[in-house]
Amino acid sequence: MSVVAVPTATPDVRTVPDAGAPVGIFDSGLGGLSVLRAVRAVLPHERLIYVADSLHAPYGERDDAFITARTMAIGEWLVSQGAKALVVACNTATAQSIAFVRERLAIPLVGVEPGVKPAAAVSKSRVVGVLATQVTLRSTRFQSLLDRYAGDCRFICQPGHGLVQAVERCDTSSPELMALLESYLKPMLDAGADTLVLGCTHYPFLDRAIRDIAGERLQIVDTSVAVARQLARLLDANALKNSDASLELMPRFCSTADGESQRQLAASLLQLDAAVEHVDIPSRLASALAESPLA
Ligand code: DGL
Repeated sequence: MSVVAVPTATPDVRTVPDAGAPVGIFDSGLGGLSVLRAVRAVLPHERLIYVADSLHAPYGERDDAFITARTMAIGEWLVSQGAKALVVACNTATAQSIAFVRERLAIPLVGVEPGVKPAAAVSKSRVVGVLATQVTLRSTRFQSLLDRYAGDCRFICQPGHGLVQAVERCDTSSPELMALLESYLKPMLDAGADTLVLGCTHYPFLDRAIRDIAGERLQIVDTSVAVARQLARLLDANALKNSDASLELMPRFCSTADGESQRQLAASLLQLDAAVEHVDIPSRLASALAESPLA
């Protein structure tokens, strides 16, 4: 990657975060709500701000510079809103840009990665399917996970083209979606896979559809609870864990699109009936990666 787009605007509000400050969670769209659900379960006293970059979803078919620009812009925006820590609840953004963003934001960061290691630990047939975006599957981070943890397992890696778009429309069960999903899962099942890694945070919302197709033949590996536990460790280590149980616990939901799908999905799958704020978070084309300043 030679040129990246980075935001150059100075954040409008910058406070020194304390334990009562919110945790920022972001995804290209609605998928990170599956991570937010786990964070709420593991850390029930934390205030949360969730940003869905639905205007720009899916990231999985974008180029590297675009994804880095969006991740950086949204990270900066969340810092400007007082976030004390950031969860990049997007495998694609983590794979592509977390190292870049980690160096430039002054708050602790947690990313998400496909559960190659837990899948290799539980598979009996030693054949594992992975569904993730094209960007995640071709990333050096993912290849390195396979090199380190696949061991004697065969991993069948399938880009989930079309699945993110379906979840963004709140489609988790239409005949078209089921046919698409089946076309991805059948070759894995035919090859003897007994485990499926969900390498995209949108896919946990398809768990019922996956069950309808594969029954009990696939155990599903989703890393959202592990990510929430990692966030808890990080907050502890930085003395940022909130223990005040009296704070307002409804997340603040934000979207770069109109937010209607987000409101629907949060209500139907998370039982969180909340308004969604529209936010504009521009990225600006800036200098070459090597020249962009560290925070
Ligand atoms: N939820 C994102 C992920 O985990 C989806 C990426 C996309 O927008 O394509 O990768």
